[in-house]
Amino acid sequence: MDKRSFLQLVGLGSLGLGTELQWLPSWLEDPTSDADFWNKVRADYTLTDAYINLESGYYNIIPRPTLEALKQHIETINLRGSHYMRNDQFPDKKRLLHALAQIAGCSADSLILTRNTTESLNTAIKGIPWKAKDHIIFANQEYGAMQQMIRQVAERFDLAITNLDIPMHPQSDEVIVAQYENLIQPQTRLILVSHMVNITGHILPIKKICDMAHSHGIEVLVDGAHCIGHFDFKIEDLNCDYYGSSLHKWLATPLGCGLLYIDPKHQKTLWPLFTEDYLMTEGIQRFGHQGTHPVYHDLAIENAITYYQALGPQRKEERLRALASRWMEALRDHPNIRINTPAQKERYAGIGNVGLTHMRASELARRLMDDYQIFTVAIEGAGVDGCRITPNVFTSTEEIDRFIQVMLQLADT
Ligand SMILES: Cc1ncc(COP(=O)(O)O)c(C=O)c1O
Repeated sequence: MDKRSFLQLVGLGSLGLGTELQWLPSWLEDPTSDADFWNKVRADYTLTDAYINLESGYYNIIPRPTLEALKQHIETINLRGSHYMRNDQFPDKKRLLHALAQIAGCSADSLILTRNTTESLNTAIKGIPWKAKDHIIFANQEYGAMQQMIRQVAERFDLAITNLDIPMHPQSDEVIVAQYENLIQPQTRLILVSHMVNITGHILPIKKICDMAHSHGIEVLVDGAHCIGHFDFKIEDLNCDYYGSSLHKWLATPLGCGLLYIDPKHQKTLWPLFTEDYLMTEGIQRFGHQGTHPVYHDLAIENAITYYQALGPQRKEERLRALASRWMEALRDHPNIRINTPAQKERYAGIGNVGLTHMRASELARRLMDDYQIFTVAIEGAGVDGCRITPNVFTSTEEIDRFIQVMLQLADT
């Protein structure tokens, strides 16, 4: 892509605040081989040489073009102060919600900005007009804080909960869907389910789960913390009721950016977490109040989208899956190694999990970091004992090969 088509693609003229050409990625006008391309992308990042970072699952550090744009937004807003907040904050937010809606695959009328998935899912879980004895289904592999939120509302509103275990290596989508369906009771009101299980990287068949749930009149809240900007899908194709995501993960925005999708049919009944106007009875604006917050981070979402579009969503997804496949396929058949992520390529993207038969995950993570300077995170619980491995677009194949070599060494000792 050359600079001209890049500018057309992102409508740079409309980007407003302090957007200068200097933050364009270095590789734009330089068509190269795949390996060269990813080396140039890597050069957009300032990376520590203290360790190989295979823990991008918590959050994605941001590339220099987005970082530079963020700095400009901070400078500009710091200069204009309340004048910006009073005059341009809300038009800018409206514009970026439209850009975000395109990436998320839904209408801007069903989307709000939040600080993260925690806030998004809290809005849904705390806002559903629960009735005593309503029943909720979720898996033990859901993110811990979301499980806690549900347990809290269950205590407050006298709700019932049933849990299940998602099979690590399912034979088919139908096996997973049936596990949820088998737990449905007359009073089941909600299923909470992750689009990508955070501890294993397992991508679940969300549309099939939603279709099944709706056939029983049950709503589905999807935890998509890891999904926007990671792999290709449209929220509206999933047929879900609510969808929350953290943009500081795979869209590589600055920290503290998230989204919540609310199907328009629930916008009347869901109680907003923050109230814009209590007399407002419908529409997404009911949920839009955020209070004063670091709006320069919100503005940089638009720059992160620009970078993501220039990278190419499909090319990014393929790269992440290729990096994950590279190490998983090299290690999967070793007798002392357990891969805690399904083998079928459509069931994972960038994230995988690996354990050793003779070493707990916490010890494995410690050895990887202390002895080999490879940073990962240990997962022990919910049927998993292994390290989560999360490369990023800046990860080189040499780093993955180093990880493979170290794992084989540890597996044989
Ligand atoms: C599946 C899942 N849900 C929710 C969260 C919470 O995300 P945040 O801390 O950005 O709110 C995470 C964080 O890693 C996660 O993995």
